[in-house]
Amino acid sequence: METLRHIVVFIHLIGFAVLFGAWAAEAVSRRFRLTRLMDYGLLIAGVAGLALAAPWGIEYDLNYVKIGVKLVVLLVIGALLGIGSARQRRTGSVPPAIFWSIGVLTLVNAGIAVIWR
Ligand code: HEM
Repeated sequence: METLRHIVVFIHLIGFAVLFGAWAAEAVSRRFRLTRLMDYGLLIAGVAGLALAAPWGIEYDLNYVKIGVKLVVLLVIGALLGIGSARQRRTGSVPPAIFWSIGVLTLVNAGIAVIWR
């Protein structure tokens, strides 16, 4: 059970890497576009995160306040991806505030995960 949980954490981290990596590639290349890869990363991190939100394969108590905050942040990122992608389809570009918020909130969630115990 413990090993299985570690594998799910690994999948969760792959989701984070795909989401942040796709976003960082756009930021560094100065294209500032939202891509399908970001949606997939969020989906992978979200599904694995929900699986990890249940207390299995561990001997300590989970911090549900922290998990709740991470879920809210994930939902906000999802909303921004949805609104930003619709704007990108309609006007050809994403409002900078939406693009930057997606990257910052992704980092905020990773920071909450590792710093808040
Ligand atoms: C963009 C969204 C997210 C990012 C970037 C993210 C990032 C991370 C990272 C980096 C870790 C590893 C921390 C460590 O092992 O110390 C982690 C662990 C975890 N995440 Fe997330 N996360 C996200 C969304 C979520 C969501 C939506 C949930 C649940 C609703 C969640 C639940 C958890 C749990 C329970 C762990 C601890 C796993 C364990 O040690 O057993 N995460 N997350």
